[in-house]
Amino acid sequence: MAIRLSRTFILRKLHQLSGIVPLGAFLLEHFYTNSKAMTGAGDFNKAVAELQSIPYILFIEIGAIFIPLIYHAVYGLVITIEARPNNLNYPYPRNWFYLIQRLTGVILFFFILFHVLNFRFGLIPNLNISVAHAPDQAFDIVAREFRLIPIAIIYVIGITATVWHFANGLWLFMVDWGIAIGARAQRLTGYACIAFGVLLLAVALNAMIAFIRPGGLLGGILY
Ligand code: HEM
Repeated sequence: MAIRLSRTFILRKLHQLSGIVPLGAFLLEHFYTNSKAMTGAGDFNKAVAELQSIPYILFIEIGAIFIPLIYHAVYGLVITIEARPNNLNYPYPRNWFYLIQRLTGVILFFFILFHVLNFRFGLIPNLNISVAHAPDQAFDIVAREFRLIPIAIIYVIGITATVWHFANGLWLFMVDWGIAIGARAQRLTGYACIAFGVLLLAVALNAMIAFIRPGGLLGGILY
């Protein structure tokens, strides 16, 4: 017997899947590359140059990052507009997480737009130069940006919102795709996602600090 899947169901599943692969996977790769700043400008610039020298990089970026990102972002905003929060009547943690997933999605929309226009395309007026187009200056460009307090604040908020959205999204995905079944499994998976989120946030913020203080917070201990 053929099973007919509704259009909304397929769009919803694609939205969930795109949050994990490719977007979540890309996020991990991105934090890994950023963490190269811990061992100095040379290592970070080399990592940026290597990424930019990948054959067909523009097509890979468009197909594996920009298109899934635009799909996930636009459909995510549609889901958010349709949401009817009822947190004051039902103040359960899961209900707050539902609301925060949508709020962080909206923050991410503006943050990623700003971030991509700024570092990838150099289109934010104060910068005028793109990291991707000048890998040999990549570290200095980022370091100059992070020394501006308003920009640093935007990045701390944006990175925190991204990590929350991804860690909670991972949990939502595991529950929705039948990977964490049953109350106990969902509770334990929830703790694991919180631990993962805290660790990922520490790595991401430490990479950011490494552009201003050599080695990041762990400079002098690890290096
Ligand atoms: C750019 C703006 C973004 C918006 C507006 C947005 C919006 C949303 C919304 C509303 C949900 C909840 C869907 C639901 O509960 O059914 C969601 C889920 C999710 N998002 Fe995003 N998102 C964005 C970016 C990202 C990025 C960059 C990542 C990856 C790091 C990501 C990863 C996820 C994951 C893993 C889920 C959970 C999927 C699931 O429910 O199974 N999102 N997003």
